[in-house]
Amino acid sequence: MSVTGVLQVWVAALLVHLAASKVVLRPEGFLKLPTYVGTTTFNAGVANKAAYDSVTNLLYVVGHDNDVMQIINMKDSLTNPVHARSIRFDPLNQGFPNDVKVCRGGLPTLEFLAISFETKNNLEQAHVHLYQLLEQPGDALVRLKTVATVEGYDPNSIAWHKDCTELVVVSQGTMHVLNGELVDPKPSVDVLIPRLGLNVDRRTVPFSETAITSARVRQVMTKCDTGSYTQLISHVEDLEPNFVVVDDDNIAYVLMQSNNAIGRMDLQDPLTPMSYHNMGRKDWSQYKMDTSYEDGGINQNPHSMTSLYQPAHAVAFKFANKTWLATADTANIRRHNIRSGSTTLCNFDESVVGATWTRSNTFSSFMDANTAAQLKTNMSSNAITGRLPFCQLKTFQDGYNPLQLSYSYLTTYGGRGWSLIDASDMSRVYDSGDIMETYFASSAATDSDKAVYNSYYQAPQSAQSQYVDRTSINTGPNPTAIATGNINGTQVVVVANGNIGGLYTFSITLDGSGAPQVGFEGFIRRGSPGLTWANAYVRSDDAVGEPGIEDLLWIEDEGQHVVVAISKIAGVASFYEVQLQ
Ligand SMILES: *[C@@H]1O[C@H](CO)[C@@H](O)[C@H](O)[C@H]1NC(C)=O
Ligand SMILES: *[C@@H]1O[C@H](CO)[C@@H](O)[C@H](O)[C@H]1NC(C)=O
Ligand SMILES: *[C@@H]1O[C@H](CO)[C@@H](O)[C@H](O)[C@H]1NC(C)=O
Repeated sequence: MSVTGVLQVWVAALLVHLAASKVVLRPEGFLKLPTYVGTTTFNAGVANKAAYDSVTNLLYVVGHDNDVMQIINMKDSLTNPVHARSIRFDPLNQGFPNDVKVCRGGLPTLEFLAISFETKNNLEQAHVHLYQLLEQPGDALVRLKTVATVEGYDPNSIAWHKDCTELVVVSQGTMHVLNGELVDPKPSVDVLIPRLGLNVDRRTVPFSETAITSARVRQVMTKCDTGSYTQLISHVEDLEPNFVVVDDDNIAYVLMQSNNAIGRMDLQDPLTPMSYHNMGRKDWSQYKMDTSYEDGGINQNPHSMTSLYQPAHAVAFKFANKTWLATADTANIRRHNIRSGSTTLCNFDESVVGATWTRSNTFSSFMDANTAAQLKTNMSSNAITGRLPFCQLKTFQDGYNPLQLSYSYLTTYGGRGWSLIDASDMSRVYDSGDIMETYFASSAATDSDKAVYNSYYQAPQSAQSQYVDRTSINTGPNPTAIATGNINGTQVVVVANGNIGGLYTFSITLDGSGAPQVGFEGFIRRGSPGLTWANAYVRSDDAVGEPGIEDLLWIEDEGQHVVVAISKIAGVASFYEVQLQ
């Protein structure tokens, strides 16, 4: 064999080896986080969001309801770290933490631990505190700047400019009651700018009614269905920004889950307005969905209906010299039943279950008559789509044809998967389809997996498997958080099951034409299906699992790759090592 021949064989073998390498998540440390008084209690509100400082190897976790911040020390081990300390916030002066983010901009004056707080009962506008990053877990928490007030009330998500010169804060503007009156705060996107000295400047990003409308962004509420609150709600007021992420080029992406849209703005260019992108609908005639818990268990079928993707959580990353956005897509249905004493202030529901939908709605002539008849038959059966929520808004966006006073297509909620978006034009290049649900019907699924299929946490005394199949009608696998990292050239995406916990792993490689090629690598879940959540929690192992994952972090340090899942319901930080095999 010639030298080139040998080389060719060797290169071919290497390629086969690369293609065959498998991404594996190995369960490692599992920390039950304490309340601020030091007790470990199931579902005590001690963990929602997290941020990691790669210089000090400290992981910060904030717990909203317990008003606490956990300091986890990862200096000695990334895979088996230790809980060092819990810091209690002051509910009156600071409020309750919504999000936490670390930034190290390269200059000592630009290093911050940012925490957004909402005030008790939303009595006042929200605040952001900029603290000094701790060097050691025991260091005092020192505020560096004046407390910055933001326009919004519920600053659920924050993200830094890469140089730490700006912090983007998004507030949803959820309706709430104040002194017996309904308050419907505007959504807001604030940009905070830490100045030399103590000051923090703020600019509030304007929303454009015409830009939103021309981008065909979905409007959910125009007014309450019933109730004493009769004010009209504008398209801008209806926006609900719930998550923000900033990419390496300082483009911010603002997710508006219930509106099924993403706003995109360049932080370097504050004069160019935000652009709005409709995330479109998923066609379930080419995928399989489980639509009922009364159909004898795992039973997935294609349906002639669409669902709104509804991105809830996202990561931005560079791969093959391009910026991508990976979004976790899951249902968010707007429903309100807001009262003050015996007065109903606002009742609203954008959806209605299939069995009810057919009673007051019909299909337009744009739909094939056979399909329409089948859909109606399916919706009249609780074993098919009778309990699935469908959109009942009379808007063009949601399929309503105002000329025929009927629907041209049927819309349900949530992508039940994740999407890969080309950030340059916000087009979707990949959709995980039905993999997160059909995995459970595959030979790879274990009996322990199947036992908790589409189950969810309902009460501490219920077994983890007790509500098996129950979420089939609303969220299915409920992807609530997503993280990504690159291991030796393979981009790995990890997606959380927000109901029963567990992580789905995917890999992205490039095909011959340079297009991303996504492969499903597997599912792993900690937990013990037969135990009740409460009994599992008191055991010394990881039997409680990670119900209600709200945040997912990818930590890379000295060649080690670790994924941390933050379980809101269990109050746990769960660590996995990611490896190529
Ligand atoms: C009606 O339900 C069956 C069973 O789930 C499904 O296979 C079929 O595709 C549905 N029909 C339509 C038109 O969606
Ligand atoms: C990456 O993309 C940029 C902009 O398209 C281009 O200028 C640059 O040469 C590319 N770099 C590589 C390594 O391909
Ligand atoms: C990446 O490749 C290097 C060199 O082949 C190897 O030593 C290392 O273990 C790999 N890292 C992972 C996480 O697989």
